Amino acid sequence: MDRAAALVEALVSRGGPQLPKVEWHEELVSTSDRLKELARSGAPEWTAILADRQSGGRGRDGRTWQSPPGGLYLSVLLRPSGECARLLPLAAGVAVAEAVAGFGVAGELKWPNDVLASGRKLAGILAEASSGGAGVEWVALGIGVNVALDPERLPEELRGSVTSLQAQGATGTDPGAVAGAVLARLGVWYDALREAPLRVVAAWRERAVPWWGSLVDVRSSAGVLRGRLLALDDDGALVIELSGGETRRLVSGEVSRLRQAAGS
Ligand code: BTN
Repeated sequence: MDRAAALVEALVSRGGPQLPKVEWHEELVSTSDRLKELARSGAPEWTAILADRQSGGRGRDGRTWQSPPGGLYLSVLLRPSGECARLLPLAAGVAVAEAVAGFGVAGELKWPNDVLASGRKLAGILAEASSGGAGVEWVALGIGVNVALDPERLPEELRGSVTSLQAQGATGTDPGAVAGAVLARLGVWYDALREAPLRVVAAWRERAVPWWGSLVDVRSSAGVLRGRLLALDDDGALVIELSGGETRRLVSGEVSRLRQAAGS
């Protein structure tokens, strides 16, 4: 059985989502680019694309996602209703954190959905939505997990900020097994988005990096905002308090911590 068929079967046997179509390539420019082509021609929900490596992996905010062999590069097509689409990136983060926990690695979530382990980046998620008159039509959810990456294959400037399941002493480092675990947990949290979205928010808070009360910078296309990290609200927005005491709700941006609050 090839790897794509084995993934479909593994999900069926663990009661996970049924994957109507899976492609597993040795190399792609980007699994999300391939998935978006299929989405535009009407591919069904839970179509999944995987690659052993990507030559043009994409990260959030126009960044590159280094994609040498030894990583999981997975994109999955979802067609959430508008309400669910808003919280989908958080649900995906929770799913990935739970999946890696199954391999003995404690992942923590940095808003909106970076998965860190020992303070270093273990996984990233890129949710790209296409909308029409009726709202969100589909979301290409791209998930990259550093499974058995050789840090030597990463650019030098990334080596200190990135980790992998292997480096964290995971109990398994087979990208197919990690894909199965991620998709199974994603199925659970995708259902929760429809049935009880606040459970998703609560699960995200439970797994968040413990930075509440710390001073952070949030970088976005609008610039950098500095403030104290207060909360994740029920709509999935980050709430920070600016130095003058004013609070701001942020719906996008890259968070970095400046220093720990006294006593935390
Ligand atoms: C981030 O910047 O943290 C998000 C990284 C998302 C990377 C994944 S790998 C699979 C999919 N294909 C891509 O080109 N990007 C996403």
